[in-house]
Amino acid sequence: MSRVLLLFGGRSAEHEVSCTSAVSIYDALGEAGHHVIPVGIDRDGEWWIVDSAHRPFRAEGRPAALRLPDGRLLVGDDDLGYDVVFPVLHGPYGEDGTMQGVFEIAGKPYVGCGVLPSALAMDKDIAKQIFETAGIPTSRWRVVRGSEYRQDPTGTVVSLLKYLGSPVFVKPAELGSSVGISKAEGVTAVQEAIDEALRYGEKVVVEEFISGREIEVAVLGGPRTALPGEVHSAGEWYDYDSKYEDASSDFEVPARLPEQSVAEVRALAARAFAAIEGRGLARVDFFFEERGRGFLINEVNTMPGFTSISGFPKMWMGTGMTYAELCNELVELALDGP
Ligand SMILES: Nc1ncnc2c1ncn2[C@@H]1O[C@H](COP(=O)(O)OP(=O)(O)O)[C@@H](O)[C@H]1O
Ligand SMILES: [Mg+2]
Repeated sequence: MSRVLLLFGGRSAEHEVSCTSAVSIYDALGEAGHHVIPVGIDRDGEWWIVDSAHRPFRAEGRPAALRLPDGRLLVGDDDLGYDVVFPVLHGPYGEDGTMQGVFEIAGKPYVGCGVLPSALAMDKDIAKQIFETAGIPTSRWRVVRGSEYRQDPTGTVVSLLKYLGSPVFVKPAELGSSVGISKAEGVTAVQEAIDEALRYGEKVVVEEFISGREIEVAVLGGPRTALPGEVHSAGEWYDYDSKYEDASSDFEVPARLPEQSVAEVRALAARAFAAIEGRGLARVDFFFEERGRGFLINEVNTMPGFTSISGFPKMWMGTGMTYAELCNELVELALDGP
């Protein structure tokens, strides 16, 4: 039995998803015999001890503070002891290494990847550089930096399209959840897409458009891989609405793939996990160009969605683990150390 600090909510667009995941994890860890302290981080970054009876979880309650460097969790005059942290946080300030750094300083074990893999997986350009170096095929891409781009937007886009073809996908380098991402065709539309992505940060990734199936693999420390799943998006691509709003988007487990392709994509996922120095868990996402280059890695998510119907748990459930066993395993992995 461990005392688990369950951190959820956070300052990203995936705040709600995180709150939903937290309820499922809270119940599962309780079932496994752990004592769970739910702490919600609101959209301003404030920490709150949450009343676990109040469903769905919301980041509100009694104000809590984490003290550094000793990592004590303080609520008024109370000092709430805990053994391990489960940060079910997505995107910036949660999944990008910053929160992981806080718990490194505090000397507290935590579920999931450490500072380095979290930070580099969050940057779509750096992550692709590492995949290429590791010999894991990925789509062609170019980086656009705001300051350079503004000096010659049209010239930059013309040269990009020459290299990448058209349409392209335009993404802020350091977000998740499809925010700020667009598919664009032709010089004017691509310029608009870059302007949009630049609203979220100075660094933008422009990729060739891949026409293929979307196959994902869940990985646990080891690395061990689950049977792959496939995204069937309600929209033309897996945009924010298709991910979170449209109930007709569907995640199929196991993905319908020949045995040899299953083995291949699982091996690629394990290699990607190792290449970023992954630990604990990750979901590795691929495109599958059936009549072309085969599997192309798109990204690694170091804290994937974790609701009971999210892809990551569904893939493990499809591989013979229960949701509660999975949550318990993650806590055990964290306590075992790197
Ligand atoms: N190069 C591409 N070609 C085709 N579709 C893409 C490409 N890049 C992204 N997409 C689509 O956009 C979605 C979101 O992009 P992704 O890179 O996964 O960003 P996020 O980190 O926000 O999930 C993907 O799931 C896919 O549907
Ligand atoms: Mg994605």
